[in-house]
Amino acid sequence: MLRLGSIEIDHPFLLAPMAGITNSPFRRLMRQYQSSVVISELVSANGIEYASDKTMELLKFVEQERPVGLQIFGEDQTNLVKACQVVEKLGANFVDLNLGCPVPKVVKKGAGSAMCRNPQMLGVILDAMVKSVKIPVTIKIRTGWDANLKNAHEVVKVAADVGVNWVEIHGRTRAQGYSGEADWDFIGEIKAKSPIPIIGNGDIVSAEQAVSRYKTYGVDAVMIGRGALRNPFIFEQSLDLLSGRPVKVITAEALLLLLEQQRGYLLETFGERSLLHARKFLAWYSSGYPGAGAFRGKVFHIPTNEELWATAHEFFSVAIKKRDMSYLDEPFLMGGHG
Ligand SMILES: Cc1cc2nc3c(=O)[nH]c(=O)nc-3n(C[C@H](O)[C@H](O)[C@H](O)COP(=O)(O)O)c2cc1C
Repeated sequence: MLRLGSIEIDHPFLLAPMAGITNSPFRRLMRQYQSSVVISELVSANGIEYASDKTMELLKFVEQERPVGLQIFGEDQTNLVKACQVVEKLGANFVDLNLGCPVPKVVKKGAGSAMCRNPQMLGVILDAMVKSVKIPVTIKIRTGWDANLKNAHEVVKVAADVGVNWVEIHGRTRAQGYSGEADWDFIGEIKAKSPIPIIGNGDIVSAEQAVSRYKTYGVDAVMIGRGALRNPFIFEQSLDLLSGRPVKVITAEALLLLLEQQRGYLLETFGERSLLHARKFLAWYSSGYPGAGAFRGKVFHIPTNEELWATAHEFFSVAIKKRDMSYLDEPFLMGGHG
């Protein structure tokens, strides 16, 4: 057990929040496959105030996901406080504030990464959020706004002063978007000076990298986003490596079992709508396997769930034998909300 502030986790490898991706069925699946914590995609605090069906659906989770955090974003203190209270009432283990989103629509209103431009004002809002609930409040930030304002040190200090439980940090500035490389040296510097736990994030695509980032930079945990979409076994493998066990080999049986489980969770949650989600995941999982291009082309035209999963079983049963690992060097999902 690792104690990160007031939250206990089994080990230091966890799934990053991703909009349209870390929904309840995928979080449940990744908890089962050893992400030590899961966090929802960002949900608008202003939207929570209006409690539309769509917003409330994003906040649903199942018991198997615990420990689970729900991530909110917004610029209005009153709505952020109310959103924290809703998250607490729903029974989540913690509430995470998105302070890393670089998307213009979000930053223009002063939310996401824009909030860190004024750490003093941010401190007042965080203080109100922390005081409004009993569950821990966590935050997810970037290194700064741009090369001239890399103020994560200040943001972490402000957060620690008001009792934020931990800080997740994606090693890029807002201006960088998803370009360049995550600056792990900077993350290491933040960790060295931080009085509260720091979770490092950015560009981890293998178990070897996960363990080496964890050990080299002294962070309390590492968060993996896109890497888990192409290798959903990355948390298990990282844990194996850290524990000195042989790293789990991805066999056809193992992958087909995972697909079966994911199919079940998706159907349970989304019914017929699960087809759209399933297509995306199957396409990502196929990266590097022979015939992946043709498989992807096919997947997006298959009209029924039945046919889709049958095609996937057929593809992976054969393809699993050989994976061209150069897929790891290809740019992948170069945009998102954090
Ligand atoms: C498609 C996509 C959606 C994302 N959505 C969110 C989000 O809702 N909240 C958030 O804090 N970060 C979000 N992110 C950022 C990730 O959590 C993570 O910080 C980033 O992808 C870097 O980590 P990685 O290289 O391991 O993917 C998103 C990233 C992607 C690619």
